[in-house]
Amino acid sequence: MRILLTGQNGQVGWELARSLLPLGSVITLDRHQLDMMHPETCRAIIQQHKPEVIVNAAAYTNVDLAEDEIELANTINATATGILAEEARKVNALLIHYSTDYVFDGTKSTAYAEDDVTNPINAYGRSKLSGEQAIQKTGADHLIFRTSWVYSARRTNFLLSMLKLMKTRETLRIVNDQTGAPTWSRSIADITAHVIKQAWTERHQGRFKSGIFNLSGSGNTTWYEFAKSIAELAKADAQFKQSLMIRSIEPITTAEYPSKAKRPLNSKMSHEKIVNRFNIVMPDWQECLRLCMQDVV
Ligand SMILES: NC(=O)c1ccc[n+]([C@@H]2O[C@H](COP(=O)([O-])OP(=O)(O)OC[C@H]3O[C@@H](n4cnc5c(N)ncnc54)[C@H](OP(=O)(O)O)[C@@H]3O)[C@@H](O)[C@H]2O)c1
Repeated sequence: MRILLTGQNGQVGWELARSLLPLGSVITLDRHQLDMMHPETCRAIIQQHKPEVIVNAAAYTNVDLAEDEIELANTINATATGILAEEARKVNALLIHYSTDYVFDGTKSTAYAEDDVTNPINAYGRSKLSGEQAIQKTGADHLIFRTSWVYSARRTNFLLSMLKLMKTRETLRIVNDQTGAPTWSRSIADITAHVIKQAWTERHQGRFKSGIFNLSGSGNTTWYEFAKSIAELAKADAQFKQSLMIRSIEPITTAEYPSKAKRPLNSKMSHEKIVNRFNIVMPDWQECLRLCMQDVV
């Protein structure tokens, strides 16, 4: 299997570069080799490599900055994504793409299913929804995974921000009225590899169906509870324990923590569709956090 991976240095891309290896040959591209700010340049790269699977882990992901950089977010998340899909169709490649819980407005009280009505409440969410629609329009074989609250032992994310703050602050005030599922980038990559293998067989047997799937950690929590779990694990770990200053974590409301972009209050996502189609177990978010923290240096 010839796989082309974009965004190789991102949280998810970095893990994918490892998880995809057993499937075949993997061409990994960073933003200098494939710059989605210039969407038309993506065409030649797909035509040059003629991959059988394209995994698009590249995206514009700065949720607050997207409010000011609407055009750039749309170029990368929608226009370039659509062009990748057009080229995927031309070379008959399967396109794997990632989207977000932020395509929903968060007003539903229960978990979101894939076919619930979308209504993004920030510019990033709108750009990602446009990306989904651009892919669907091309008719390329595709799987779109909506994920949420992604963290890893690398780059910038809630886990690493909390660990840093817990070394310098005695008290933290964390939002407790947004509910969702923290998702370890390694789980996303491992599940993606498993799914590609099955999709490969389905395509060869002529029974593949494109679709959108929720892919996030199992179980739900709030940012406040997530932070408390990070603190508990850090306190129990010899590596972190010595350097921690943190004494208390206080719950606050979203209104008490203003941010440029609005966030949905409910990001819970149902996993029924992905579990049934691909015969997988969604990993528990707390177990993933425990394992990921062992990688943090
Ligand atoms: N992070 C989350 O909480 C979250 C939540 C829901 C959904 N998602 C989705 O999950 C996917 C993976 O996210 P992630 O957390 O791995 O994001 P990430 O760590 O921010 O990685 C994004 C990757 O995209 C690359 N990139 C940015 N602009 C580019 C451009 N113009 N051309 C080519 N590459 C470019 C970045 O390159 P550099 O390495 O050079 O910066 C980086 O490798 C994305 O589709 C994202 O929308 C993420």
